Amino acid sequence: MKVLALVLVLVGLAAASPSGPVNRDITGAQVIRVNPTRASHLYYLHGLFMQDLYDFWTEPRAVGKNVDIMAQRWMVPVLKATLSKVGIEYSVIIPDLGDLTEKSKIANDRALEMAKRRNTNAKHNMDWTAYHRLDDLYDYMDYLAETYSHIVKVKTIGTSYEGRDMKMLKLSNGGFRKPIVFIDGGIHAREWVSTATVSYIMSQMVENREDYPFLDHVDFIFMPTINPDGYEYSHTNDRYWRKTRSKTGVFGCKGVDPNRNWDFHWNEVGTSNNPCSDIYSGPEPFSEIEMQNVRDQLNKYADRIKVYLTFHAFSQLWMYPWGYTYALPDDWVDLDDLARDAVDSLTAFYGTSYEVGSSTNTIYPAAGGSDDWAKGVAGIKYTYTVELRDTGNFGFLLPPGQIIPTGQETLEAVKTIGSFVASN
Ligand code: ARG
Ligand code: ZN
Repeated sequence: MKVLALVLVLVGLAAASPSGPVNRDITGAQVIRVNPTRASHLYYLHGLFMQDLYDFWTEPRAVGKNVDIMAQRWMVPVLKATLSKVGIEYSVIIPDLGDLTEKSKIANDRALEMAKRRNTNAKHNMDWTAYHRLDDLYDYMDYLAETYSHIVKVKTIGTSYEGRDMKMLKLSNGGFRKPIVFIDGGIHAREWVSTATVSYIMSQMVENREDYPFLDHVDFIFMPTINPDGYEYSHTNDRYWRKTRSKTGVFGCKGVDPNRNWDFHWNEVGTSNNPCSDIYSGPEPFSEIEMQNVRDQLNKYADRIKVYLTFHAFSQLWMYPWGYTYALPDDWVDLDDLARDAVDSLTAFYGTSYEVGSSTNTIYPAAGGSDDWAKGVAGIKYTYTVELRDTGNFGFLLPPGQIIPTGQETLEAVKTIGSFVASN
């Protein structure tokens, strides 16, 4: 009897976890928005966040900042009761996530189909009117390497856990040991606009390079998706998959949060030791082959990389280290200055507003991020984590029609950074 009870509890726990073993059932799931209006609310929400019972689409950040929480159907009443009990007001912003996800998939599939039909270039199917699969992205990178072979090199820097290539594009119009801006995206699988934005910026800078005079003095490295297994899985099985796909836990829970896996103050704060958790830091630092591969490239070029940018979605934040502590790096004023210049350029384009600050002070402490490692270990002075559009209106389901505007405004920020590196 006791054994049976234990088994039931364990099965229940596995199913309750947001990244459970089977495909997460989002039929009837809801996204609930709460607004912590006092410090005690925030404290309570953070405790809830660390419990792994719900999928927090946005982390509890500060009093007055919305927190969006996804609850699976059978947990919805529990969450509502919990919030009411503590006196935190809430509203349902997505009444049926399954329904909305299906609709957004149909819209994206249609956009992909139209892109394909419009495309007269037989060499690739890439564009930025839809979220494309990995194949389209990789074919496009190969196309760029072929078409612009004098300035572009595409390398496979390793393979993922499931054996997918990890492609990196180097853009250099010649010269010797120029400074580098290193840009990656897609570390978190479901943050599709991150991958799309990095490939948009890459595309613009390669195909219209005359428009970017700083390229005479700066090289660029692009890795639009550094979590290819997760990215594909978020297209085929679970739209809200965040982690890698490695097998780590019992009960079939898979994947590690790749942005908790870097070996700098690893697992100290804001992480979980539960393999079913979406913020699982992994069995050891750099347990994930994908992060080892990116680390090796950052190390290889460390003395030339002046700026490291890693793109996420969503919340519209431009953040610098540290993420593991409230303390700021000695040179934080330099990082803050450049971030504000970049954000000013971004905002000037469409008026999209961003918050700037250290990631701990902007969100919450979370150790093991690539930004902290790039600064703390690789010694890259300017490292930033950028949370792109939006602030939660569409969240992860940012409509394909917003890819190009997001790309355009973010390119403005990257131009400011490129010019800064060129003139320093
Ligand atoms: N939302 C991002 C994450 O959870 C923020 C990362 C900020 N950087 C950090 N080192 N905590 O991964
Ligand atoms: Zn992210």
